Amino acid sequence: MMAASPVETLRVELADRAYDILVGPGLIARAGAEIRPLMRRRQAVVVTDETVARHHLAGLRDSLAAHDIASHAIVLPPGEGTKDLAHFGRLVDDILACGIERGTMLVALGGGVVGDIAGFAAATLLRGIDFVQIPTTLLAQVDSSVGGKTAINTSAGKNLLGAFYQPRLVLADTASLATLPRREVRAGYGEIVKYGLIRDAAFFEWLEAQGRALCDLEPAALTRAVMVSCRTKAVIVAADERETGDERALLNFGHTFGHALEAETGFSDRLLHGEAVALGMVLAFDFAARVGVASRQDAVRVRHHLAGAGLPTQLSQIGLDGSAADRLLGHMGKDKKVRDGAITLILPRRIGDAFVMRDTARDELRGFLAQAS
Ligand SMILES: NC(=O)c1ccc[n+]([C@@H]2O[C@H](COP(=O)([O-])OP(=O)(O)OC[C@H]3O[C@@H](n4cnc5c(N)ncnc54)[C@H](O)[C@@H]3O)[C@@H](O)[C@H]2O)c1
Ligand SMILES: [Zn+2]
Repeated sequence: MMAASPVETLRVELADRAYDILVGPGLIARAGAEIRPLMRRRQAVVVTDETVARHHLAGLRDSLAAHDIASHAIVLPPGEGTKDLAHFGRLVDDILACGIERGTMLVALGGGVVGDIAGFAAATLLRGIDFVQIPTTLLAQVDSSVGGKTAINTSAGKNLLGAFYQPRLVLADTASLATLPRREVRAGYGEIVKYGLIRDAAFFEWLEAQGRALCDLEPAALTRAVMVSCRTKAVIVAADERETGDERALLNFGHTFGHALEAETGFSDRLLHGEAVALGMVLAFDFAARVGVASRQDAVRVRHHLAGAGLPTQLSQIGLDGSAADRLLGHMGKDKKVRDGAITLILPRRIGDAFVMRDTARDELRGFLAQAS
C-alpha cells in the first residue's frame, strides 16, 4: 500500500482574515474537497495561463466537479506581459460574464503572474469576492502566495496598481512543480535561500545539506522548504501587514540590487527575478563585508552555495561588469525605498540576521559596483 501523501498546514494569523496554507504533493487532486467547505455558493471561476492549463487544469476541474462545484475556466497567455491593464480589463469582463456573485470562488491556478492579476480581480470585482490561490511555481509557493499583495503593471512601472487582499486558502501542490522548467525551479530557490539569510541560520545550514535534493524536487525536502519559507514570510507579514515598519522590508533582501540588475537587463529572459535576487544577495553580502558590517567568510559561503545551486553570482555571468556601476546606481536611485536621494539597503550582519541600512553612502556604493565583476 502506498503511504498517504504528507500534507502540512500552516495557519496565517491575521486578525479578521486568517487562512490556511496547505503544502504537499497531490493538492490539486484534493482541491475540490479542500475548497468546498469554504464555499458560499457552489460556483468557481478558475483563472490560469496556457502553459499551466495544459498540465494542471483538467485535474483541478475534475476535482471540483467530483465535489459538485461548477467551474468556468479563463486561460490567459503566459508571461509578465499578461499583468497589464488591457488583460485585466478583459479578464474582469470574462469573469463577470460567468454570472458571478459575491459567493463565487475565484481560483488562481498558476505562477505569480496569474496569482497577481487574478488576486487583484478578486479584490476589486463586486468590491471583493472570495479567492483561493493554487501556486504552481516554486517562486509563487514561497513568496507571492503569502502576504496578500496583488497587483498589475502600468506603463509607469511594475506592480503600481494593486491591493492588499488575502486569499481564503492557499494550496501549494509541490508535485505540480514537476512540469516547471528547471531554470524556474532554481529561480524560486533563490527566494528560499533569502529566508535563511535574513532570519534563520539553521535553515540556511539545512539548505546547504538539502538544497540539491530540493532542487531535484525530492518531496519531503520540498515540502519542508516551502513550509519554512511560508512560515517565515507569514510571521513577518503578520507583524507588519501593510509594510509600514522595518520588519517587512527585510523581505526585500537582495532586491534593491536585484531590481537594478533586472532593469539593466531589460526585465527579460536574460535574468529571471529569482536569479536577480540571488546575485543581489551576493552583492549585498560582498558590500556588507566591504564596509565591515559582515564577515568576508559569510559572503564567500553564500556565494558558494548559490553558485552550487546553479544561480548567477557574478555580474559577468549576465554580461555586465563594473562599467555598469553608474547605470545600476541610477536604477537603485529610482527604487521605491529611496528617501531624499539616500539609498536604503537591506544588509546582512551575518547569515541569518539582516537589517535596514537607511542612508548608504552613494560614493561607497559606486566604488563597490565599479569593482564588482
Ligand atoms: N504578490 C506578491 O507578493 C508577489 C511576490 C513575488 C512575485 N510576484 C509576482 O510574481 C510574478 C512572477 O511569478 P512567477 O515567477 O511564478 O512567474 P510566472 O507566473 O510568469 O511563471 C513562470 C513561467 O512558468 C510557467 N508555469 C507556471 N507553473 C508551471 C508549472 N507547474 N509547470 C510548467 N510551467 C509552469 C508559466 O506559464 C510561466 O511561463 C511577477 O509578476 C511578480 O511581480 C508577486
Ligand atoms: Zn522577490
